[in-house]
Amino acid sequence: MGWNSWNKFECKINETIIREIADALVRTGMKDAGYEYITVDDCWQIGRDSLGNILADPERFPSGMKSLVDYVHSKGLKFGIYSDAGTQTCQGRPGSRGYEFQDARTYAKWGVDLLKYDWCNHGKQNAEASYTIMRDAVYKAGRPMVLSICEWGTNKPWEWGASIGHTWRTTEDIINCFDCKNNWGGLGVLQIIDLQVEIGGYSGPGHWNDPDMLEIGNGVLTANEERSHISMWSMFSAPLIAGNDIRNMSAQTNEILTNKEVLAIDQDSLGISATRWMKYGDLEIWFKPLNDHNFVFCFLNRSNQPVTINQDLKTIIKNYKVDGSYNVRDVWKHKDNGTTEVNIKGTIAGHDVLMLKLTRKYYSRR
Ligand code: GLA
Repeated sequence: MGWNSWNKFECKINETIIREIADALVRTGMKDAGYEYITVDDCWQIGRDSLGNILADPERFPSGMKSLVDYVHSKGLKFGIYSDAGTQTCQGRPGSRGYEFQDARTYAKWGVDLLKYDWCNHGKQNAEASYTIMRDAVYKAGRPMVLSICEWGTNKPWEWGASIGHTWRTTEDIINCFDCKNNWGGLGVLQIIDLQVEIGGYSGPGHWNDPDMLEIGNGVLTANEERSHISMWSMFSAPLIAGNDIRNMSAQTNEILTNKEVLAIDQDSLGISATRWMKYGDLEIWFKPLNDHNFVFCFLNRSNQPVTINQDLKTIIKNYKVDGSYNVRDVWKHKDNGTTEVNIKGTIAGHDVLMLKLTRKYYSRR
């Protein structure tokens, strides 16, 4: 869990913003809720010196990266940086191709804790080999770092990423909308969700599918859509990387980002990525087993119209070879909602979710 500069600031970043974001993470309770990594995405770098060392933009980062990293660390947070496996980043800044070991040494010297490693301008490079070089470079540099593979799913990184990095992007970039697509390759929340259906099984502790950063608080999604966004990412046990200006976020955005009951589902120690159990037209029911024989169901209403439900959950549980009765809790309303002995009834607003945690009353394994 953390924050990344790209979704909100793109190239318009500087050290003041990053310091203020670090302060805001602490002030707003985001840090206490678990958001820990602050990652400076593309555009921090400007060139290389005569020895090939990567240089931060001195106008935007006049105090240098080391002092920024120290500041972030002084808040009890971790620092992430961005580079690219090709010759240039997506914004035309220097990539790490040919400089992998030197760059990893530099990041280690600065105290970096996470590297997001992108895939622009890779020419004919092989993806698995390119990410392996950076993995080895980080090992060699001797500082533990999360290696966040940002290859957009093009070469099925879920098939080879587990021994190379800790997370891998599964799709093209998220765009700030719930249900849309654009032709340069951006995907809305629903379009990203659809691409997780087949690959959930590849994700697990230490090697996670990454459906990209959050667009919560960026002014376009409705509260319903924002709830669906973070709920589904939590169903996937996905990295939760906030992408908004948390210095000025509304109380509502803060509440959505820090709902502890939802975050606990994301962070559940089994780390299972949910299965889409049912699809009734625009209504989907997603299912995720949790630690301690508990479960969570997330009803996702894809349409912008309300939908009425009358759903037996007992049968679904039986399909997973577990009998017994479960207490049902609505983790958005923070309210208990009966047991699995009776059907779940109600209305789900357009583009909203009903996220129910089932806690075992008693159970027997068949
Ligand atoms: C790619 C990545 C994004 C972001 C930009 C920066 O598009 O997928 O997440 O890092 O590059 O240029």
